[in-house]
Amino acid sequence: MTARDPLRLAILISGRGSNMAAIARACAAGRINAHIDLVLSERPGVAGLDTARAMGIETGTVAWPGAAERLHFERDLEAALAAARPDLIVLAGFMRILSEQFVTAHAGRILNIHPSLLPSYRGLHTHRRVLEAGDRVHGASVHFVTAELDGGPVILQSRVPVRPGDAEDTLSGRVQATEHIIYPRVIGWLADGRLAWHDDRPWLDGKPLAAPVVEDFP
Ligand code: GRF
Repeated sequence: MTARDPLRLAILISGRGSNMAAIARACAAGRINAHIDLVLSERPGVAGLDTARAMGIETGTVAWPGAAERLHFERDLEAALAAARPDLIVLAGFMRILSEQFVTAHAGRILNIHPSLLPSYRGLHTHRRVLEAGDRVHGASVHFVTAELDGGPVILQSRVPVRPGDAEDTLSGRVQATEHIIYPRVIGWLADGRLAWHDDRPWLDGKPLAAPVVEDFP
């Protein structure tokens, strides 16, 4: 068996970067065969950029000129990514919507993590909406990015209970702790060749992935 080269990652963030840091720790510890070549933010000065630099990871910013200038932004983004030559673009709390053109150009090579059990609760404020609805379970989803917002095929979900007395902060903390486990796991599956994208859909262990893998957490 030939050893695979580490999967080259570019991670896009807009804020705290705790998922980026969890992926960086998994790479550094050798738990996944991947390497972060670049962390980019469209917001200068966010905490995640400091965290990445402190971990010895190259960082950059690409200015966001406004939604009307999305294609201009994506040209700059492509230029910043070109030097890093990533195998995989990892969206980790990246708060901008990428165009269909960008997503199609990188089909099967962009992942996102969303704090809900997709397809439920696409969009923002998921923890609050789950509490308002009185749901008993919640979670997070790692999915391939397609042109449909929060709509690409889901690969792995963490499912957590909603506890009596939960508030938005306790619930989001419980979900985020699981994000830091499932996101590196999916990247590891790609790095090991277990997960792949063919014929416009995900395959896991040589079979089309018909439904997300679900992992329960306490
Ligand atoms: C996470 O909750 C993730 O699910 C969502 O944005 C948040 C990012 O957090 N997409 P962090 O920046 O990784 O700490």
